[in-house]
Amino acid sequence: MAAAEQSAEQFRGQARLPRFAAPRRYDLRLAPDLAACAFAGSVAVGLAVSAPTRFLVLNAAELDVAPAGVSFAPHGSDKVLQPVEVTNVPEDEILIICFNEVLPVGEGTLTIAFQGTLNDKMHGFYRSVYELDGEKKNMAVTQFEPADARRCFPCWDEPAFKAVFKISLEVPSETVALSNMPIIEEKVNGPTKIVNFEESPIMSTYLVAVIVGIFDYVEAFTTDGTRVRVYTQVGKSAQGKFALEVAVKTLVLFKEYFAVPYPLPKMDMIAIPDFASGAMENYGLVTYRETALLFDEKHSAAANKQRVAVVVAHELAHQWFGNLVTMEWWTHLWLNEGFATWVSYLAADQFFPEWNVWTQFLEESTTGFKLDALAGSHPIEVDINHVDEIDEIFDAISYRKGASVIRMLQSYLGAEVFQKSLAAYIKKFAYSNAKTEDLWAALEEGSGEPVRKLMHSWTKQQGYPVVSVKIKDGKLQLEQTQFLSSGSTGVGQWVVPITLCCCSYSCQEKFLFNEKQGEFDLSGFMGCQKKDNFWIKLNVNQTSFYRVSYDEELSSRLRYAIENNKLSAADRYGVLDDAYALCMAGKQKLVSLLHLIASYKDETEYTVLAHVITTSLDIAEMMAVAVPEELGNLKKFLIDFLEPFAQKLGWDAKSGEGHLNALLRGALLTALAELGHEGTINEAVRRFNVFLEDRDTPLLPPDVRKAAYVALMQTVNKSNKTGYESLLKIYRETDLSQEKVRVLGSLASCPDPEVVREALDFMLSAEVRNQDAIFLLRGVSSGGHDVAWQWLKENWDYILGAYSGTLLTYFVSTTVSPLATDEKGDEAEEFFKSRTKANIARNVRQSIERVRINAQWVKNTKGEADIGNVLKNLANKH
Ligand code: BES
Ligand code: ZN
Repeated sequence: MAAAEQSAEQFRGQARLPRFAAPRRYDLRLAPDLAACAFAGSVAVGLAVSAPTRFLVLNAAELDVAPAGVSFAPHGSDKVLQPVEVTNVPEDEILIICFNEVLPVGEGTLTIAFQGTLNDKMHGFYRSVYELDGEKKNMAVTQFEPADARRCFPCWDEPAFKAVFKISLEVPSETVALSNMPIIEEKVNGPTKIVNFEESPIMSTYLVAVIVGIFDYVEAFTTDGTRVRVYTQVGKSAQGKFALEVAVKTLVLFKEYFAVPYPLPKMDMIAIPDFASGAMENYGLVTYRETALLFDEKHSAAANKQRVAVVVAHELAHQWFGNLVTMEWWTHLWLNEGFATWVSYLAADQFFPEWNVWTQFLEESTTGFKLDALAGSHPIEVDINHVDEIDEIFDAISYRKGASVIRMLQSYLGAEVFQKSLAAYIKKFAYSNAKTEDLWAALEEGSGEPVRKLMHSWTKQQGYPVVSVKIKDGKLQLEQTQFLSSGSTGVGQWVVPITLCCCSYSCQEKFLFNEKQGEFDLSGFMGCQKKDNFWIKLNVNQTSFYRVSYDEELSSRLRYAIENNKLSAADRYGVLDDAYALCMAGKQKLVSLLHLIASYKDETEYTVLAHVITTSLDIAEMMAVAVPEELGNLKKFLIDFLEPFAQKLGWDAKSGEGHLNALLRGALLTALAELGHEGTINEAVRRFNVFLEDRDTPLLPPDVRKAAYVALMQTVNKSNKTGYESLLKIYRETDLSQEKVRVLGSLASCPDPEVVREALDFMLSAEVRNQDAIFLLRGVSSGGHDVAWQWLKENWDYILGAYSGTLLTYFVSTTVSPLATDEKGDEAEEFFKSRTKANIARNVRQSIERVRINAQWVKNTKGEADIGNVLKNLANKH
């Protein structure tokens, strides 16, 4: 468009910024006032103007920009142009700067002075509160992803506008000032100092970071000399040692895996007391929640250790996949997150083979499967038309389905070809941006396989198939349909990489299945088919993202194979997970699911047994609504089933026992407590009372503490709240976040709704950081769901004011989704009708759909007459 035809109007309401001016370099100066929670700053942006324009349009939000502080200096002339108008459009988060004359094509520098508030919303430039020598202090922290750099300084705040950053901070002399790059110079001037950082390589705005506060650190170097530090609150640096070790190893591993060295001279990682997500991969300055970075030898649990390792690996993977090669637009967010999730398991598996993390990975797939079985899901590559829509796609589709389809592709192409092609992709797009398509092209070139065609069916359409199989006349008949938890059938169709094995893992076949229906000749397996104990398993080791529905004959043979320990742990997990999903969708009877559960009586693998437990507890929750009169029998069956496992493990760790035993012990004892098992509850209370007097007692090691807390809460009711009060005492006295989280996760697990309500109120009090509300919400007992929903409605206005981003959406999903009747579904629809905004719309829709699905499952179960008898039979078998 010719400059003469431009008007300010045309820039409003657009999903993306106009492209006629692009930043090349930012000189950014920030001066935070920690006590006043305010900051002042100025930015000089070196711009390339590619078409004549009277306007410059860039992002800014919640910043004061005085027109007098804005100017543009075209390079190669002495002129400095003042704008005639600077319009701030809050709904689009943009500044429209209008000049009297046309800016020439070429380079120039735009200078803007601005002021802002260090907010308490954990995004943009914000304050986090910590204690130093018994005194409360503020630190200044940035969190810019996805689109909050604009809350700190005016900028072209889209991932494709990469530029160089030169940052300078004016801060109190006694503080530590950190940014993406190392410090080149510090000039102390009385109470303040100016800290200048080296210029960064070109990078996206969402990866810029600045932190100012008082910290300790531990330090180490990688074999090729990269300096790695873990910063913590003063006095806690020893808790950073484990993450430091993992980080050093991970940087070395990824340098080899991506075949490109880590691009920056240093890597700082820091624990932030108030943090919206788990961690953030800022280039060279990764920020974490305390629980995701710190590990205390005495009081952290095995699960905490694993979390730290996986999160560190995930964020460090982004330094290549995301930071060096960046998605072109948020539609390709999954490239960042799906990939980092997948490769974090690859790293964890290398460093900790005994954790069997690839089996644990199946829990990621399950979460992806669950969300993607909703009509309200979305394709992996999702249209983004407004910034408010971005937060909600940091979800199980981008992360978990994303990671699962990458795993599927890797196992189809083979590990070596996959890695080589990836390295080629990283090399080609380093210091620039890429789209999903670009990754497929690299993999197609490296492998000679039809990667685009295969993967488009998985990333451009939502959902996934269930492949139904049966045997007829020596042939395996297959049919694919889109799986939906509602029980209806979608119209999707996929290119499915089928693998199958027959009677043994040495007898395997694989092929691509892209028709609706097909047949596979089993004559090669003839010898096998004649055997009495014949079985067939599709999706071998669960490496692909589809479900399988076996006919009754094949199902019962698989049950046999499970009982006789013929299947791999991943396949045992898969058979259960598919059966559970099919049951919920009304495609299989609850009684056959219960029979299947019983066949896991000799299960040995943590992940599988943990999944049996979650499935069982979900069933119990549903039955409590559908057939409350049978709940007692179900609980008895489940307790009888779980108790032998718990007996074997006991409460105390055996010396030298493995990581997975520690995880399993916690899961089993928690489940038994939730099921109301008296023996477990009494023992928990006994041990807890010792712990209450002596926090270092060996009777309550960190791995069983959460179980004990949950057990204790089963003894609490509104007229006897001693247990609840004792837990609050633990919460108040500990300075370890992981301990606080364990308490928060148990406070609402009480069966008494009035106590649940009290816990929810406590969650909103000043004693609980906003970042931690989610843990209490997730722990609401099945008896507490109705009161939690009631409570949410009463407190909605407050919640809306205090929480934003993913933290806000959790309130909706954790309170609404467990409801299980149509009346509640109607209520939720009614309530959100006038309250839905772009930043929660997707979650509201998905949560209500889940209520409808639960309600349908309840109805289906009511229609199954023989549940009582089946439970009695199963109980007798034990
Ligand atoms: N890039 C994300 C952080 C993020 C999340 C920014 C949501 C903005 C919105 C980071 O790499 C990440 O994925 N963190 C995870 C932890 C990870 C181990 C799955 C998180 O925060 O949960
Ligand atoms: Zn990530």
